[in-house]
Amino acid sequence: MCGIVGIIGNRPVAPLIVDALKRLEYRGYDSAGVATLEGNILDRRRAEGKLVNLETRLNADPLSGIIGIGHTRWATHGVPNETNAHPHFSDDVALVHNGIIENFRELREELIADGYNFASQTDTEVIAHLVSRELKAGKNPADAAHTAILRLEGAFALAIMFCSEDNLIVAARNGPPLAIGHGEGEMYLGSDAIALAPFTNVITYLEDGDWAVIRREDMKIFDASGASVERAKQFSVGSHLMVDKGNHRHFMDKEIHEQPEVIGHTLAHYLDFAEQRVSGLDDVSFNFKELERVTITACGTAYLAGMVAKYWFEHLARLPVDIDVASEFRYREVPMNKDGLSLFITQSGETADTLAGLRYCREQGQHIGAIVNVRESTIARESDVVFPTLAGPEIGVASTKAFTCQLSVLACLAVGAARQRGIINTEQEAQTVRELSEAPRFASQVLKLGPQIEQLARELANVKHILYLGRDTNYPLAMEGALKLKEISYIHAEGYAAGELKHGPIALIDETMPVVVIAPHDQIFEKTVSNMQEVAARGGKIILITDEKGASKAGIDEIKTIILPEMPTIITPLVYALPIQMLAYYTAVHMGTDVDQPRNLAKSVTVE
Ligand code: G6P
Repeated sequence: MCGIVGIIGNRPVAPLIVDALKRLEYRGYDSAGVATLEGNILDRRRAEGKLVNLETRLNADPLSGIIGIGHTRWATHGVPNETNAHPHFSDDVALVHNGIIENFRELREELIADGYNFASQTDTEVIAHLVSRELKAGKNPADAAHTAILRLEGAFALAIMFCSEDNLIVAARNGPPLAIGHGEGEMYLGSDAIALAPFTNVITYLEDGDWAVIRREDMKIFDASGASVERAKQFSVGSHLMVDKGNHRHFMDKEIHEQPEVIGHTLAHYLDFAEQRVSGLDDVSFNFKELERVTITACGTAYLAGMVAKYWFEHLARLPVDIDVASEFRYREVPMNKDGLSLFITQSGETADTLAGLRYCREQGQHIGAIVNVRESTIARESDVVFPTLAGPEIGVASTKAFTCQLSVLACLAVGAARQRGIINTEQEAQTVRELSEAPRFASQVLKLGPQIEQLARELANVKHILYLGRDTNYPLAMEGALKLKEISYIHAEGYAAGELKHGPIALIDETMPVVVIAPHDQIFEKTVSNMQEVAARGGKIILITDEKGASKAGIDEIKTIILPEMPTIITPLVYALPIQMLAYYTAVHMGTDVDQPRNLAKSVTVE
């Protein structure tokens, strides 16, 4: 992960770099650094911890210089301390890196044998020394950088600065994204366009294998073979959407509360309310009628949205779905029939494993569809069909509104698939569209349960372990509830299919164990009641998220309930997601954790 920035400016750049890094902190926040060049002297400030520590250091000991690079880190090799923080130096070279250099051990040994000393434990430092060695061998800076890059295996986005050049940054991309921004007599680079939003919205994205020689007045891009290539300039949309917390204490709270609105926007994009049908499937490169199955690949919360969709596609459209986490899928060498449909779900559109899965499916001759929140992302650009989620920028590391927007898109696709496959008729489609359009209203009502959920969360803040249970689409929701809680409160939580309780997790149940059960009153509610009885009989403390009917039929003493309005089954995953997010949020707030930037996590995972 990590975020990188570079600026060749005509004013002092250190404050600008810090400003851009703030917008990249979602990519990592365990240490940060800035280097600038002035009078042929490279200087840097680095600090362990959040960016604010670097800012404090820079305020006390400012950096001048009108060219510089910066980095915010999510540690892979070497603990998060100041020595391992970027930029890394080697004699006349300064460098920032996002990614992992897989052959760094052999390069390190080679460089040590050549007399180079390593100050850090990072994989990155080898690149600085490699470039430096090429400079010493007499190459000019751009050639030295290129020769060094050719030695690298793995994933990287790089920005390299040279002591001798106050008008040059060399950038390179192999895997993680890299955006070059064009200004008035200034040039910028960053891990995404939003980082550069205060400076410019004219962006060139490097392609995989590209490297660029950037100067104030122009830029030259070369592909991996060294041939000069043209990459289009684009106007970045949405950069202006860089948001603040408004009246909310955390971005996560704000994003939870935005859900009625963004679910509404997303549904409106896919539903033709006048015609009462799913729209937008007529011009795509595939037809659900001709498909034998769909493959869904994603990571984290996006994967759990895909798991909900599996139930929908199979139940509503009678279309089998294979789903896997991308980190497994990419290496499974799945045999695939040509012309199948592979769907990739991703908020950032940059998750390395998901992207690798996409490229595998491309080789297998699949139609590639992406459900993606960041429209300019690599995954969006490499897909045949983009199904956007209209969640707006999601800043909190724990995904909330992106998840419910992903569900909104997937529900529409499943209904569209059901129509194309002749499983539902026009009237049934119209009925389902009316049901889906109710989701924002119900989501608004659920937000009003905040004070009650906050009260329940107070009690959870003292426990060590929590179990979440659900059946059918509530099973992935149980997993999402557990994921949200562990991400931000650091309480150990597991999400299980309620029917699997007796195959293991029941051994954990005693009086200290809260069990959150997600069970609207539906066709299999009674089955879940049996599982709750099994928990209650062993002293487990049940929190049941259900509706009035479910609450009245649970028939268990000593149960706490969060009661939602009764609603059509198809929208329950979208709406029941809110109380589980709120439960995790308020628990974390009571525990005093860093809700928006929980330890060890990053929002966009661009390494394997
Ligand atoms: C990280 C984030 C999660 C996210 C997952 C997949 O783990 O913390 O919130 O669900 O990556 O990210 P993507 O951008 O592909 O949805």
